[in-house]
Amino acid sequence: MTKIDVLLGLQWGDEGKGKIVDVLTPDYDVIARFQGGPNAGHTLEFGGIKHVLHIIPSGIFHTDKVNLIGNGVLIEPRIFRQEIEELDAKGVDATRNLLVSKKAHLILPSHRMMDAANEQAKGNSKIGSTLKGIGPAYTDKIARTGLRVGDILASDFRERYIMLKEQHIRMAQTLGFDIDSFRIDGLGLDQYEQLWMESLDTLKRFRFVNSEYFINQCLRDGKRVLAEGAQAMMLDIDFGTYPFVTSSNTITAGVCTGLGVAPSTIGKVMGITKAYCTRVGAGPFPTELFDETGAKLCELGHEYGATTGRPRRCGWIDMPALRYACMINGVTELYVTKPDVMNDFDQVCMCTAYDIEGRQTDEIPFEYNTVPIHPVLTPFAGWKQSLAGIENYNDLPANLLSYLAAIEQQTGVRIAAVSISPDRKDVLFKAQ
Ligand code: IMP
Repeated sequence: MTKIDVLLGLQWGDEGKGKIVDVLTPDYDVIARFQGGPNAGHTLEFGGIKHVLHIIPSGIFHTDKVNLIGNGVLIEPRIFRQEIEELDAKGVDATRNLLVSKKAHLILPSHRMMDAANEQAKGNSKIGSTLKGIGPAYTDKIARTGLRVGDILASDFRERYIMLKEQHIRMAQTLGFDIDSFRIDGLGLDQYEQLWMESLDTLKRFRFVNSEYFINQCLRDGKRVLAEGAQAMMLDIDFGTYPFVTSSNTITAGVCTGLGVAPSTIGKVMGITKAYCTRVGAGPFPTELFDETGAKLCELGHEYGATTGRPRRCGWIDMPALRYACMINGVTELYVTKPDVMNDFDQVCMCTAYDIEGRQTDEIPFEYNTVPIHPVLTPFAGWKQSLAGIENYNDLPANLLSYLAAIEQQTGVRIAAVSISPDRKDVLFKAQ
């Protein structure tokens, strides 16, 4: 029996998970997504072309790998169809190697409407949702009113769909939401619904499976399975910066519920962190930079959301948050991405503790959202050189190696590799 390895983001998302999964894929037979939905945007770049995936696992470009959408994932059929068509246009036939759990829940057009209605009702305390219907669809899952992929094949699917949609319409009306003016991709709810219904035909072309049996059989057969996280640790519904979080368990524990595997089957936990830090949407971000250094990180790092195009908030790496992430997830190795963004910085900083009302702590406080948190910063001399062409970890500039060593020392977790450009060839593994 093999173990299932896990790869997840340790910050607020966009750490470069898609790319690292893509690099690691040759080592695995199965790549499985266990949570999240089209709020995710996993960017992969190879052969000079950029590919963005939302719900399809990042192993899809490797035809000999099985890709699985697990029960913990949310599927919006219209977005799914678009993703499949984009792959088709690139000559990738996903029907060959993509399986879908029958228990994965569906995002209805009216879930997307409810996302907009809820955000509007929040006024100034908006979460900054991607508005893909994630919160409302998971709400229906927990309320036991949701519809699942397997339900599409049931004879009463349409009636159940209409019942749920009408419930959402009543809820939106109660919130005073203007349903008639609501648009998805420029279309009204009814028009979009038509496209959504047509897209079910695309979904039906895929093999629906009881994925918990499939994945456990894979492990018994000695297959190597990689669970690919979406969003990230600090957006976890339980341990993230609640309520400024997504609606799923993004952490290692989510692999067990999102795929149906026992905790004892978890093997390596690979955590990804940027060499600095970013966040999209609202919520606390103690190391955020509001000056030109923040703007420079955003510009040089091309920090614009892969799903929404929104500029990301940028700041220094946050060790209290990273240590917390390593603890909650049982991270066994770190992958550090994008140090190259800071190549011409005279100095880079690392937050090693928080100062809260004059008291220093390295714990994430319950009052994370409400008390002013001042980062205690340790400066490091910049490396002031391009990293282009460097092929070995140990050939990285000495100042960058010191910075990376400090990350290891602060987290107590070894770095497995560092990624120095968007291209899949530029991931430098560190000798054991
Ligand atoms: P939702 O998951 O769309 O409801 O969004 C909730 C919060 O999570 C918002 O602040 C989003 O910006 C953030 N979020 C959701 N998905 C991602 C992601 O894949 N990367 C980064 N942030 C995300």
